Amino acid sequence: MRLAVLLSGRGSNFQAIHEAIQRGELAAGIVCVISNRPGAPGIARARDYDYAAHILDHKAFPSRAAHEEEVLRVLEEARPDFICLAGYMRLLGAPFIERWRNRILNIHPSLLPSFPGVDAQAQAVAHGVKVSGCTVHFVDEQLDAGPILVQRAVPVHEDDTAETLAARILVQEHEAYVEALRKLAGPWRIDGRRVIFD
Ligand code: GRF
Repeated sequence: MRLAVLLSGRGSNFQAIHEAIQRGELAAGIVCVISNRPGAPGIARARDYDYAAHILDHKAFPSRAAHEEEVLRVLEEARPDFICLAGYMRLLGAPFIERWRNRILNIHPSLLPSFPGVDAQAQAVAHGVKVSGCTVHFVDEQLDAGPILVQRAVPVHEDDTAETLAARILVQEHEAYVEALRKLAGPWRIDGRRVIFD
Protein backbone atom coordinates (compact mmCIF):
# COMPACT_ATOMS: atom_id res chain seq x y z
CA MET A 1 0.00 0.00 0.00
CA ARG A 2 1.60 3.23 -1.19
CA LEU A 3 0.83 6.23 1.01
CA ALA A 4 1.31 9.96 0.49
CA VAL A 5 1.10 12.24 3.53
CA LEU A 6 0.09 15.90 3.37
CA LEU A 7 0.74 17.97 6.47
CA SER A 8 1.15 21.54 7.66
CA GLY A 9 2.44 21.25 11.21
CA ARG A 10 3.55 18.99 14.02
CA GLY A 11 3.11 15.73 12.12
CA SER A 12 2.34 13.42 15.04
CA ASN A 13 -0.21 11.49 12.96
CA PHE A 14 2.38 11.10 10.21
CA GLN A 15 4.80 9.83 12.84
CA ALA A 16 2.25 7.33 14.15
CA ILE A 17 1.78 5.94 10.62
CA HIS A 18 5.55 5.79 10.13
CA GLU A 19 6.03 3.95 13.43
CA ALA A 20 3.28 1.44 12.68
CA ILE A 21 5.02 0.63 9.38
CA GLN A 22 8.37 0.31 11.16
CA ARG A 23 6.87 -2.04 13.73
CA GLY A 24 5.41 -4.20 10.96
CA GLU A 25 1.84 -3.41 12.00
CA LEU A 26 0.92 -1.76 8.71
CA ALA A 27 1.96 -3.24 5.37
CA ALA A 28 2.56 0.08 3.65
CA GLY A 29 5.24 2.43 2.42
CA ILE A 30 5.24 6.22 2.55
CA VAL A 31 6.09 7.31 -0.99
CA CYS A 32 6.04 11.05 -0.38
CA VAL A 33 5.40 13.68 2.27
CA ILE A 34 4.22 17.13 1.24
CA SER A 35 4.02 20.23 3.43
CA ASN A 36 2.59 23.60 2.45
CA ARG A 37 4.48 25.19 5.36
CA PRO A 38 8.27 25.40 5.09
CA GLY A 39 8.71 25.41 8.87
CA ALA A 40 6.45 22.46 9.64
CA PRO A 41 8.11 20.15 12.19
CA GLY A 42 6.48 17.24 10.34
CA ILE A 43 8.46 17.83 7.16
CA ALA A 44 11.72 17.99 9.12
CA ARG A 45 10.79 14.63 10.57
CA ALA A 46 10.09 13.27 7.08
CA ARG A 47 13.58 14.34 6.02
CA ASP A 48 15.11 12.66 9.10
CA TYR A 49 13.38 9.44 8.08
CA ASP A 50 14.65 9.82 4.50
CA TYR A 51 11.25 10.05 2.87
CA ALA A 52 10.77 11.99 -0.35
CA ALA A 53 9.87 15.28 1.35
CA HIS A 54 8.44 18.18 -0.63
CA ILE A 55 7.85 21.70 0.61
CA LEU A 56 5.25 23.33 -1.60
CA ASP A 57 4.69 26.68 0.07
CA HIS A 58 1.27 27.93 -1.02
CA LYS A 59 2.46 31.51 -0.51
CA ALA A 60 5.00 31.04 -3.31
CA PHE A 61 2.28 30.32 -5.90
CA PRO A 62 0.21 32.93 -7.73
CA SER A 63 -3.10 31.23 -6.96
CA ARG A 64 -4.72 28.45 -4.99
CA ALA A 65 -5.22 26.52 -8.24
CA ALA A 66 -1.56 26.83 -9.23
CA HIS A 67 -0.46 25.51 -5.85
CA GLU A 68 -2.85 22.62 -6.04
CA GLU A 69 -1.72 21.75 -9.56
CA GLU A 70 1.82 21.37 -8.28
CA VAL A 71 0.70 19.21 -5.37
CA LEU A 72 -1.20 17.05 -7.87
CA ARG A 73 1.84 16.83 -10.11
CA VAL A 74 4.01 15.55 -7.25
CA LEU A 75 1.31 13.06 -6.32
CA GLU A 76 0.95 11.78 -9.89
CA GLU A 77 4.65 11.06 -9.87
CA ALA A 78 4.55 9.33 -6.49
CA ARG A 79 1.52 7.17 -7.47
CA PRO A 80 0.06 6.66 -4.00
CA ASP A 81 -2.87 4.33 -3.35
CA PHE A 82 -4.06 6.66 -0.60
CA ILE A 83 -3.38 10.26 0.33
CA CYS A 84 -3.38 10.85 4.09
CA LEU A 85 -4.19 14.37 5.22
CA ALA A 86 -2.51 14.67 8.61
CA GLY A 87 -3.03 18.16 9.91
CA TYR A 88 -3.05 19.61 6.37
CA MET A 89 -4.52 23.07 6.83
CA ARG A 90 -5.61 23.72 3.23
CA LEU A 91 -8.97 23.04 1.67
CA LEU A 92 -8.74 20.86 -1.42
CA GLY A 93 -10.40 22.00 -4.65
CA ALA A 94 -13.01 20.02 -6.55
CA PRO A 95 -10.62 18.79 -9.31
CA PHE A 96 -8.26 17.41 -6.65
CA ILE A 97 -11.05 15.59 -4.85
CA GLU A 98 -12.49 14.26 -8.11
CA ARG A 99 -9.11 12.95 -9.27
CA TRP A 100 -8.58 11.05 -6.02
CA ARG A 101 -12.16 10.27 -5.00
CA ASN A 102 -12.30 7.84 -2.07
CA ARG A 103 -8.50 7.81 -1.99
CA ILE A 104 -8.01 10.84 0.27
CA LEU A 105 -8.25 10.30 4.03
CA ASN A 106 -8.51 12.93 6.71
CA ILE A 107 -8.50 12.78 10.48
CA HIS A 108 -10.65 15.15 12.47
CA PRO A 109 -10.58 15.60 16.26
CA SER A 110 -14.30 15.12 16.96
CA LEU A 111 -16.99 12.54 16.44
CA LEU A 112 -18.32 13.77 13.12
CA PRO A 113 -20.81 15.04 12.13
CA SER A 114 -20.48 16.94 15.43
CA PHE A 115 -18.05 19.85 15.46
CA PRO A 116 -16.62 20.08 11.95
CA GLY A 117 -14.17 22.87 11.13
CA VAL A 118 -11.48 24.47 13.23
CA ASP A 119 -11.07 24.13 17.00
CA ALA A 120 -13.20 21.01 17.22
CA GLN A 121 -11.99 20.22 20.74
CA ALA A 122 -12.86 23.73 21.99
CA GLN A 123 -16.27 23.42 20.32
CA ALA A 124 -16.85 20.13 22.15
CA VAL A 125 -15.86 21.58 25.54
CA ALA A 126 -17.98 24.69 25.01
CA HIS A 127 -20.99 22.60 23.96
CA GLY A 128 -20.75 20.49 27.10
CA VAL A 129 -20.78 17.09 25.42
CA LYS A 130 -19.79 14.19 27.67
CA VAL A 131 -18.15 12.16 24.93
CA SER A 132 -15.99 13.26 22.03
CA GLY A 133 -13.27 11.59 19.98
CA CYS A 134 -11.86 11.44 16.50
CA THR A 135 -12.96 10.44 13.03
CA VAL A 136 -11.00 9.14 10.05
CA HIS A 137 -12.99 9.76 6.89
CA PHE A 138 -12.72 10.02 3.14
CA VAL A 139 -12.58 13.58 1.88
CA ASP A 140 -15.39 14.86 -0.29
CA GLU A 141 -16.41 18.34 -1.43
CA GLN A 142 -17.89 19.30 1.93
CA LEU A 143 -15.76 20.18 4.94
CA ASP A 144 -15.15 17.24 7.32
CA ALA A 145 -18.08 15.39 5.82
CA GLY A 146 -17.04 12.40 3.69
CA PRO A 147 -17.73 8.70 4.34
CA ILE A 148 -16.52 7.59 7.77
CA LEU A 149 -13.86 4.89 8.07
CA VAL A 150 -13.07 4.73 11.81
CA GLN A 151 -14.16 6.57 14.95
CA ARG A 152 -12.75 6.41 18.47
CA ALA A 153 -14.51 7.91 21.49
CA VAL A 154 -13.07 9.47 24.65
CA PRO A 155 -14.82 10.89 27.74
CA VAL A 156 -15.01 14.64 28.22
CA HIS A 157 -14.37 15.57 31.86
CA GLU A 158 -15.91 18.53 33.68
CA ASP A 159 -12.54 20.15 34.22
CA ASP A 160 -11.36 19.64 30.64
CA THR A 161 -9.97 22.48 28.60
CA ALA A 162 -9.60 22.35 24.82
CA GLU A 163 -5.96 21.41 25.44
CA THR A 164 -6.52 18.54 27.88
CA LEU A 165 -9.27 17.13 25.67
CA ALA A 166 -7.09 17.50 22.55
CA ALA A 167 -4.30 15.53 24.26
CA ARG A 168 -6.71 12.70 25.18
CA ILE A 169 -8.13 12.61 21.65
CA LEU A 170 -4.67 12.71 20.02
CA VAL A 171 -3.69 9.37 21.60
CA GLN A 172 -6.74 7.84 19.90
CA GLU A 173 -6.06 9.64 16.61
CA HIS A 174 -2.76 7.88 16.24
CA GLU A 175 -4.37 4.46 16.60
CA ALA A 176 -7.43 5.32 14.55
CA TYR A 177 -5.43 6.43 11.50
CA VAL A 178 -3.43 3.21 11.45
CA GLU A 179 -6.61 1.17 11.96
CA ALA A 180 -8.29 2.88 9.01
CA LEU A 181 -5.32 2.18 6.74
CA ARG A 182 -5.15 -1.44 7.84
CA LYS A 183 -8.82 -1.84 7.03
CA LEU A 184 -8.33 -0.29 3.60
CA ALA A 185 -5.68 -2.90 2.86
CA GLY A 186 -8.48 -5.48 2.75
CA PRO A 187 -11.66 -5.49 0.68
CA TRP A 188 -13.99 -2.53 1.11
CA ARG A 189 -16.76 -0.79 -0.74
CA ILE A 190 -18.92 2.28 -0.47
CA ASP A 191 -22.67 1.99 -0.10
CA GLY A 192 -24.19 5.46 -0.11
CA ARG A 193 -22.39 7.23 2.72
CA ARG A 194 -21.34 4.00 4.37
CA VAL A 195 -17.96 2.35 4.04
CA ILE A 196 -18.37 -1.43 4.27
CA PHE A 197 -15.37 -3.59 5.07
CA ASP A 198 -16.18 -7.05 3.67
C1 GRF B 1 -4.87 16.62 14.63
O1 GRF B 1 -5.56 16.99 15.81
C2 GRF B 1 -5.84 16.25 13.56
O2 GRF B 1 -7.01 15.65 14.02
C3 GRF B 1 -6.16 17.59 12.94
O3 GRF B 1 -4.95 18.29 12.97
C4 GRF B 1 -4.13 17.80 14.02
C5 GRF B 1 -2.84 17.37 13.40
O4 GRF B 1 -1.89 16.98 14.35
N1 GRF B 1 -6.69 17.43 11.60
P1 GRF B 1 -0.50 16.38 13.91
O5 GRF B 1 0.14 17.43 13.00
O6 GRF B 1 -0.74 15.09 13.18
O7 GRF B 1 0.28 16.18 15.16
